[in-house]
Amino acid sequence: MAKTISKDERDAKVFALYEQLVEIEQRLIPTGLHVFGRPSSSGEKTDLFKMIASFDRPEAGVCALPETVIDAAVREFVAAGTDSAIRLLEQKGLSAETTRPVFALLETVSTRLQTNNEMDSLVRALRGEFIEPGPGADIIQNPDILPTGRNTHAINPYGVPSAVAYARSEAVANGLLDRYKSENGRYPEAMALVLWGLDNIKTQGEGVAQALWLLGVRPVRDALNRTTSVEVIPLGQLGRPRIDVVMTVSGIFRDLFSPTVQLLDKAVRLVAQLDEPLELNYVRKHVLEQIEQDACDADDAAVRVFSNAPGNYGTNVKFMVMDSQWEREETLGDLFVTRKCFAYGRDSKGHAIEGREARVAMDRALSRVEATYQNIDTFEIGLTDVDHYFEYLGGVSKAVEKRAKARPAIYLSDTLSREVKIRTLEETVRLETRAKTLNPKWYEGMLKHGFRGVAEIENHVSNTFGWSATADAVDDWIYSEVANTFLFDESMLERLRELNPHSAHSLVQRLLEANGRGYWDVEDSVLEKLREISRSLEDQLEGVA
Ligand code: BEZ
Ligand code: MG
Repeated sequence: MAKTISKDERDAKVFALYEQLVEIEQRLIPTGLHVFGRPSSSGEKTDLFKMIASFDRPEAGVCALPETVIDAAVREFVAAGTDSAIRLLEQKGLSAETTRPVFALLETVSTRLQTNNEMDSLVRALRGEFIEPGPGADIIQNPDILPTGRNTHAINPYGVPSAVAYARSEAVANGLLDRYKSENGRYPEAMALVLWGLDNIKTQGEGVAQALWLLGVRPVRDALNRTTSVEVIPLGQLGRPRIDVVMTVSGIFRDLFSPTVQLLDKAVRLVAQLDEPLELNYVRKHVLEQIEQDACDADDAAVRVFSNAPGNYGTNVKFMVMDSQWEREETLGDLFVTRKCFAYGRDSKGHAIEGREARVAMDRALSRVEATYQNIDTFEIGLTDVDHYFEYLGGVSKAVEKRAKARPAIYLSDTLSREVKIRTLEETVRLETRAKTLNPKWYEGMLKHGFRGVAEIENHVSNTFGWSATADAVDDWIYSEVANTFLFDESMLERLRELNPHSAHSLVQRLLEANGRGYWDVEDSVLEKLREISRSLEDQLEGVA
C-alpha cells in the first residue's frame, strides 16, 4: 500500500527529483572520442560553447551570459554568427558592449577548434623540430589551450596555488565541512585528500588550496614572488576547527610540485605547533596523542604528505582489480598503503625527508580519518572514465576503513559549474552512470568508433565495478540497467558482438563478477541469461559459432 505523504512532502520530493534531472540535463556529455588529427564537428560545439559562455573571465574582460538566455544566444551564434546573437540579446535588454566580448571569445575558440595541427606537429616532433608550447588546462577553464597539437608547458610550482585558486577553494572547503557536519552533527577531525599533478596544473593548484583551507592557513609569497610559506588564519576568523589532513599525492605531483610538497608539509607542522585548544586544532590534538601513544617525536608524528617511493608511480590497485587478482577487499587498501607510504617534507632540524618509508606513520594518520575527498576539475574525465579515480580515492578509502575501523564518508567536488557542488561518492557514481554509461547520447557517440567504442563502454563498466570493490558505492540498479541496456537488448548485443566481441565478453564477465563478489543482488534467471550470453560470446571468439 502506498504510504500517504503530506502535500509539502510530496512537493519537496518532486522538487528534489526535478533538481536531479536538471543536473543530468545540464551536464556536458562527451559524445565520442577525440580522433587524433581530426577537428571537432560543429554539431558537437553548441554544448561546449554554452559551457564556455557560462563563466565570467575578468582577466579577458568577458562577462558570463545569464542562464536564462544562454541557450538561445549560443544557438543563434552557431546558426547565424556574432552580430545576430548580439541583436537577439539586445532585444532582451543586454547591451552589445557587455555581450560582444563573450562572442569574440567563442569565435576564437571556434576557429581554433577547426584548426588541427596534431599530425603535422607529431611529424615535426619526430623529426626533432621545435614544437610551440601552450598551456595545459581544461578547455572550459582555459580556452587558450587551443589549438591542440602543441607542447604542453607545465606550471611554475612556486606560483601554486594561484590567488584565484585559493579564493575559489574557500567555498569548496566550507562546502565539504558543512556537508559532513550536516550528516554527522560535527566536523571531521581528519580527512584524507588525493592530489594529482595534472589537475593542479589545470587549476593552478585548487587541490593544494583546498588542503590549506582545511588546515586554516593562507599561502605567503616571498620577495621573489614565490609561494614558499604559509601564515595562520586566526581561529576567530576561521570560525571552525583546523582539520587534520592526510595528503596522498601522485608520483607525478611529487615530481612536478616539489616546492608545493614542501609547502604542504610546512603548513601541517606550523599548525601542529600552534598553542590552541585541542578541540579547535585537530592537527595538534592528533600529533600530541601520537607522541604519547607511540613514544615517537614530534617530527614523526606530524608526517602528513605521502607518495610513492622515489622513482615509483601509481598504486597498482587498478591492476589488482582489473585482473580480478584479489580475494579480500582489505588487500586493495593494504596495497595502496604499501605503494604510497613514503613520506616527503622537511623535519624541524631542516633535514629533507625525501621518500622515507613511513608505513607506521601512514597507518596511524589514516586511522583517524573520517572523510576522504578528491576534487574533479574537468568535464572530460570523471569517476568512471578512467581507473585512476578508484585506484586513488577508492584505494585510500579502503585503507582508512581497515585502519579507522569504519568506512569514511567519501566526497567529491566538482568545481566546474557556477556554484560549487559537493557530492558523496554514491551520488557521483549515480550521476556519472546516468550522464554517461547509460545515456544513449554518450554510448551512441562511443559506438561510432566501432571496436574502440565498445572497449570504452566496457571500461566504464569495469571502472564502475572498481567503486564496488574499493568502496561498495554502486547501487544494484546500475548493474541491472547495464545488463538491460547492453546485453538484454538483442539488437544492441548484436552490435557489440559485431564490433568487438572481446570487450562484450569482458563486460558480461564483469557483471557476473559483480554478482559473485556480492556487489549486485539479482535474480538467478538474470544470471542464467548472462551465462548463456557469455557462453555464446566464447563460442564466437573461439570460432565455434
Ligand atoms: C597525475 O596527474 O598526478 C595523475 C594522472 C593520472 C593518474 C594518476 C595521477
Ligand atoms: Mg550493494
